[in-house]
Order: sequence, then structure tokens, then C-alpha cells
Amino acid sequence: MTDARIDAVINFVREGSRVADIGADHGYLSIELVKSGRAIFVTATEKNLQPLEAARKNISAAGLEKIIDTRHGDGLKILSAGEVDTICIAGMGGALITKILDESPEVVNAARQLILQPMNASEKVRDWLSENDWAVDDEDLAEVAGVIYEIISAVKIPDAVPKKFKRDSSPLLKKFLSQRAEKIQRVLDEMQKSSVARTSEKFSATQQKLAALQNEIAVLNGG
Ligand SMILES: C[S@@+](CC[C@H](N)C(=O)[O-])C[C@H]1O[C@@H](n2cnc3c(N)ncnc32)[C@H](O)[C@@H]1O
Repeated sequence: MTDARIDAVINFVREGSRVADIGADHGYLSIELVKSGRAIFVTATEKNLQPLEAARKNISAAGLEKIIDTRHGDGLKILSAGEVDTICIAGMGGALITKILDESPEVVNAARQLILQPMNASEKVRDWLSENDWAVDDEDLAEVAGVIYEIISAVKIPDAVPKKFKRDSSPLLKKFLSQRAEKIQRVLDEMQKSSVARTSEKFSATQQKLAALQNEIAVLNGG
């Protein structure tokens, strides 16, 4: 079973990769990674036994037990350095994604690509990537049931000629930026109600963030 979000993650995986699918849940991403031909081997990990069992059932029904190894455990701690070249962490909050990456530096540093799909706090993920010398080499957006998701690909060694990000030509970009601007405006409206909040550094930083977004939207509108 696949959808636009899972497809967008898969599209960033290079053919012939050995992939870790962290927090595999029902195993749908792992299965589609193999079916698409992008992954030659997948290590699917789950912290919780119930989804792990569901993943095992689905992987077995697809006849892929020999190509998808399922493991029970926390994040990347159950992998050895060099076992995978691509790490996918999808469908988790930005704080949890960066925690998982921080806790296993050897495994992360031995990988050549990280594909991250945060459900929130994507800025935290971007900050982590730049602080840890990973270069974002592509981004995309995907909409499922009215919700727009961000998908980020990062590499240790970027291509000499940077490519155009999928996100920048996505038909979802304007809607995504507008939704984000509305969210930030609501935060500012709330902060306005308190004299402490509206004179804080956070308030001016949030205002700047909104101005930058509005600028981006104006450019898209040809203004
Ligand atoms: C919302 S699901 C996302 C599933 C799938 N990755 C996707 O994008 O559709 C998050 C899954 O991550 C698992 N999870 C949460 N923390 C984890 C961790 N530290 N290590 C491994 N799995 C974790 C949860 O049990 C849950 O099944």
C-alpha cells in the first residue's frame, strides 16, 4: 500500500541502495522500496512490537522476508556502521528524528544519504543537518488527505552541479507556504495578547519568519 508521501520518499532513494526504514510500522515503505527496485536490501526497524508484527506479516505476504530484515529496537541503535547507505526516517516528529540521528553517530556517518520526512518541526531537522555537515540536496512536498508533508533528502557529498529541488516546482508549494504563513500568523496573534511575549526576541524572530514566507509567496505570485 502506497500513497503520495511514501512515493515521494521512495523517489529520493537511489537505485541499488541498502536502506534502513526506521519506525517501519506496517512495513509499507519497506515493501514498496523493494518493489520499486530502488532498494536491494532493507532493514526495517520498529520500537514497538505490535507494528513490528504487522510489518512481518505484510512482508511475509509479499514474499520479501529474504530482502527485508525486520528488527525490534530503538532507532538506529540496532544497526552497525556501514550496514546501510541510505537512512529513511518518515512519519515522526522533527525532535524524535534528530534524537534518533544524534544517538547513533557511527551509523549515521557511515551512510551516504538521509531521507527525512518530519511530521512537524522541519526546521529542527534542517538545523540538525547543517550543524552535522549534511547538505540538503533535494526536497519535495506530498499531499495526502488534505495534509501537505515535507520530504528532505540530504547527502554528505553533494553533486558538483546543484539540481533544482522538486519542491520548488511542486504544484503544492503555494498552498503549503500559505498554510504555513497562516499558522505563523496565528502564533503571532496569540503572542500579541501578552506584553511580555510581544516584546520578546521570539516575537521579532517569528515576525521575520512570516515576512520571509510572505516574500516567497509574493515571488510565486509573480510579484
Ligand atoms: C507514525 S508511524 C510512521 C510509519 C512509517 N515510517 C511511515 O512513514 O508511514 C511511526 C512509527 O515509528 C515507530 N517508532 C517511534 N519511535 C521509534 C524509535 N525510536 N525507533 C524505532 N521506531 C520508532 C512507532 O512505533 C511507529 O510505528
